[in-house]
Amino acid sequence: MIAKYNAKISGTGHYVPDKILTNFDLEKMIDTTDEWIRTRTGMVERHVVTEDQAASDLAYPASLKALEAANLKPKDLDMIIVGTISGDHPFPSTACILQKKLGLKNFPAFDVSAGCPGWLYSANIAKQFVENGVAKNILVVGVEILTKITNYNDRNTCILFGDGAGATIISRAESKDISRIIDSEITADGTHYELLIQEAGGSRMPASKESVKKNLHTCYMEGNKIFKFAVKSMDSMCDIVMKRNKLDVTSIDWLITHQANMRIIEALGRKMRIDSNKVIVNIEKYGNTSSATIPIALDEAIRSGKIRHGDLILMASFGAGLTSGSLLIRL
Ligand code: UT7
Repeated sequence: MIAKYNAKISGTGHYVPDKILTNFDLEKMIDTTDEWIRTRTGMVERHVVTEDQAASDLAYPASLKALEAANLKPKDLDMIIVGTISGDHPFPSTACILQKKLGLKNFPAFDVSAGCPGWLYSANIAKQFVENGVAKNILVVGVEILTKITNYNDRNTCILFGDGAGATIISRAESKDISRIIDSEITADGTHYELLIQEAGGSRMPASKESVKKNLHTCYMEGNKIFKFAVKSMDSMCDIVMKRNKLDVTSIDWLITHQANMRIIEALGRKMRIDSNKVIVNIEKYGNTSSATIPIALDEAIRSGKIRHGDLILMASFGAGLTSGSLLIRL
């Protein structure tokens, strides 16, 4: 595709529910310790929804904040893409529900199911719609309520997940603008799809008394196999975009990776030989919020003044599929 325009991230926002689940709370629920969780994952606490909250309830306030930051009104949007695997319903898409909440209609709205890189995949898609001139301002959200599909009897997974939403506006950049989405690469290796899966609830295994009894509507994961894939795939995705843009790791101002495990983030940092001060981490506060981790971390770092206009930011993610991807932007 020959791009007619450049795309940029023009605004960000995030929202997490008030309720907090700490490692000490988890100690009371399952056979684990604060020490194990901290040292094996880097997590300390995570925000979790109450029973009555669904994905669009988190996505909506996050989107309003992103619109405000971009100095736009909802009516300025011409597309909504939501990366999620835990939407309000199996169908319709959470993007359509969000469209209604924003008081909008008559433009494309759809969800992207790509596991934890859901926001990154969505940003990659939005970039293309902006570059080819089809859209001018796209709301791209990563939202997840994994705690409602978590098996709280499985200590291997239940300590990891939190809920949250991160929203971004991807807009057409002016020609004099230095802000721009420079490049992105996404891929998948479906040969290992069963390593991270919610087995029941789809057409392969519709809901039944048996599926509920066996907890098959919750997340199953082979953590240590995913661990190895995580480091390798994110490194390779980052390498592709850096080489394509003739960039050395020293020119990157900030690295924002999926927040799944502190040891994964550190291992990637070592492999890439990036200065650890350039790596954005907030895993201790939110745990793994899947597709929301990167847009939440980006928004927090912008609002705290850490990341500034003009900075070069490399992002990378991996997850269920198994999917992975990278995104290179100048803010
Ligand atoms: O975003 C979605 C993608 N998924 C991920 O990013 C997950 C990637 N994987 C991981 O983050 C790590 O593999 C985990 C945190 C899930 C597990 O850490 P690990 O270092 O790979 O541990 P392990 O599964 O090899 O288990 C080591 C030991 C086992 O005990 P034994 O068999 O050595 O006696 C586990 O039973 O740790 C035990 N264990 C726990 N102990 C206390 C597992 N979970 C817990 C726990 N508390 N919560």
